[in-house]
Order: sequence, then structure tokens, then C-alpha cells
Amino acid sequence: MKKGMFITFEGADGCGKTTQMKLLAEYLEEKRVSVVITREPGGKGLGEKVREILLNYDGPVSDRCESFLFLADRAQNIDTIVNPAVEEGKIVLCDRHIDSTVAYQGYGRGLDIERIKMLNNIATNWRKPDLTLVFDIDVETSMKRVGAEKDRMESAGIEFHNRVREGYLEIAKQEPQRIKVIDASKSIEEIHREVIKIFNSYGRLSQ
Ligand code: TYD
Repeated sequence: MKKGMFITFEGADGCGKTTQMKLLAEYLEEKRVSVVITREPGGKGLGEKVREILLNYDGPVSDRCESFLFLADRAQNIDTIVNPAVEEGKIVLCDRHIDSTVAYQGYGRGLDIERIKMLNNIATNWRKPDLTLVFDIDVETSMKRVGAEKDRMESAGIEFHNRVREGYLEIAKQEPQRIKVIDASKSIEEIHREVIKIFNSYGRLSQ
């Protein structure tokens, strides 16, 4: 059996990561590779209910409560979707994961970064993605792409989103082996080619 792989897609709201994740899934399916797609917050079942609270609840939400909700959803995603699929030798593509919490709740909201990393480890049982792609784009462009209808997180303001972007770039510097930054201002096709190039450098298809 081929080895499973866990790949996460990260970046600002409107950076185009979801489109790129779907394109990579299509590419892999054409090569007859078994792919599982999931997302955080969300995934399925309970995760979708947590997502609903996180994105649409319109009462006050404390920053720590917000973090714990993302972390609870993460534990469920890892235990019920990611790990079982990777163990079966599948490639799991996940739209947002641990680095979103470091970037949004840590750099964005200003919570202690080391503490968030520790909580992430508890939520994932110390399991890290094999590869993380960060789609980097300037905040003005990403907010234009999101448009007027913004969810609770997207409405957090330009300064917040600038800090999130800087956060991602900082995290990528700290873990260059795992995290690759991609210029998300290029065309969808160009970005897709770069994603494939990075993916293929891991040699998963030739195993
Ligand atoms: P989503 O609609 O999935 O946004 P996108 O399509 O841009 O991925 O909404 C997820 C939102 O939740 C997004 O604004 C980022 C935020 N988020 C956090 O703040 N912390 C986290 O740990 C995660 C997973 C997401």
C-alpha cells in the first residue's frame, strides 16, 4: 500500500486556496490516487455544526472561546477524517488547519502564539501536516475577492487581516521544510502548476 499524505491549504480569506485544493484533487484523481477532502472549521457532521457557530453566531464570542471552538473542531477532524484516511494510504487535502489558528487567533487576535501552538498539538495529538501550502496575497485584493457579504471572521477589519498575513509569512519562515509560500496574485493556472510542482517534489506518485 502507498503511504498516505496529509496536505493543508492556508492563507487569507479570498486567497484562492479552495480553488487550488479542488484542482489538486482533480489532478490526483486523474492519476487514480485516492483523495479525501476536508476543511476546518467543518469537515462533516459535528464539525459542520461548530462551523455554523464560528462563522454565523452574532452574539459576543471571547477570543479564547473562539480558539477552543476551532480546536474542538480540529480534534474531531483529525480523529474521524484525517487519520483514518491517511492510515488507509489516501491523500488528505484539508482547507485550513493548525496554521490558521496561529495566524488568526495568535497574530490576528493577539493571543499567545506559543500557547496556541501547544493547544494545537493537544488537538492534533502532535500530528503535523506532511506539507502545507500558504497562498499569499495582499489584503486589499483578498478583501475585494471576498466582496460585500462577509462572515464574522471576514468582517474583522483590515489591520486584523494584515496581521494574519504577516503571521503566515512568519510561520512559514520558522518551518520551511513543511510550509511552502505561493504567490496567490498569479493566474489560477500558474498557481496550479506551482502546486503540482511542489507536490511532485515530494515523490508521492512515484512511490
Ligand atoms: P471559511 O469560509 O472556511 O473561509 P475560507 O473560505 O477563506 O477558508 O471560513 C473560515 C474562517 O475561519 C476564516 O475567516 C478563517 C477562520 N479561522 C480561524 O480564525 N481560525 C482557525 O483555526 C480556522 C481553522 C479558521
